[in-house]
Amino acid sequence: MFTFNSPTKIVFGTGSADLAPKELAALGAKKVFIVTGPGKTAVSEPLKAIKAGLDSEGIGYYHFAEAEADPSIATVAKGVALFKKEACDSILAFGGGSPMDCAKGIGVSVAEGRLVEDFIGTGLAFTQPLPPLVAIPTTAGTGSEVTNAAVFSLEAGGQKAKKGTAGTTLFPRLALVDPLLQVSMPGALTAATGMDALTHAAEAYLSSGANPLADIFCLESIRLIGATLHKAYTDGGDLAAREAMARASTLAGIALSQAGLGMVHGFAHAAGALGGLAHGLANAIILPFMMQSYVPVAESRIEAIGRALTGKASISALDSAKAVANLAASLGIPHNLKATGLDEALRDKVFDDAKGYKRRGQSPRLYTDEELYDLYLRIWSGSVKE
Ligand SMILES: [Fe+2]
Repeated sequence: MFTFNSPTKIVFGTGSADLAPKELAALGAKKVFIVTGPGKTAVSEPLKAIKAGLDSEGIGYYHFAEAEADPSIATVAKGVALFKKEACDSILAFGGGSPMDCAKGIGVSVAEGRLVEDFIGTGLAFTQPLPPLVAIPTTAGTGSEVTNAAVFSLEAGGQKAKKGTAGTTLFPRLALVDPLLQVSMPGALTAATGMDALTHAAEAYLSSGANPLADIFCLESIRLIGATLHKAYTDGGDLAAREAMARASTLAGIALSQAGLGMVHGFAHAAGALGGLAHGLANAIILPFMMQSYVPVAESRIEAIGRALTGKASISALDSAKAVANLAASLGIPHNLKATGLDEALRDKVFDDAKGYKRRGQSPRLYTDEELYDLYLRIWSGSVKE
């Protein structure tokens, strides 16, 4: 028995972002709380066009352009206060994973009448429907536009941490996935976000929560990434590659909400919170090491990942892990955490935070802390090719 519940309506394709005003009108919106980061997307032409469309529909809006990378609980709280003060009734998230997660945090806090922080690590479940949330991704990686999850930065025990939370109410009502919005992404962002999508698909496929329907999404996502991520990285204007990567990231987001993730994300969240390492970059480095370590327990699944990624009819599991490392290297991504310039003093702190990752139990191979630390030391300064 398995469950597959992916309730977000998806409109996919070039120009789909233009539908936002009419779709928000259909959802009954009278005043939209627009959430973006503070950077270029906040003043981008596509967002201006959406605002003009809202004007035409007679829908008001308030633009909250403060969703920083890895949004903090304080930013979410500020958004909640403004949402209420401005008497908004719906949310439009426009940007990468951070604005989308920030929007989910604001929506869930408004719906539940208490801050999202109260639900992180406490076992408290989300029960109230969010204000209608429309998500428009401008990167191809997070998949947050179709996921039931969000990640926030917070202080825990006097130390920064990145903690995720999940629940059925967090699925956006509508995802408008428009590859045209992703054409302007710089190469490094294309690489990191694309490798995040690959990590979602691979971890969901290897998760103890994997199911046959989610598997289809994972393998197709991996196939698309293997065929097109490098093209999108080297030629950002290649719309066919952007379209394929947008599809891959959405497919992987659907899969991760069904099947879960594993310790690649555990280590990446810790390295992100403590060392400021970009999420996708950390995942790209960690994924091949973890795949290599899972070979004794998940050989045929890792081979399937390798076949999908490389298009080869046959590939060994160890070569599959190397294929992921080679793809990352071709995108200019360092081969271990130390090579990113992370301070050596952070090494054990990152491990200590990561070992408590709430989804650790979904990894296909369950390690003792000592075994996991040995593996982590290789991720820190080793090579998958050793
Ligand atoms: Fe991720």
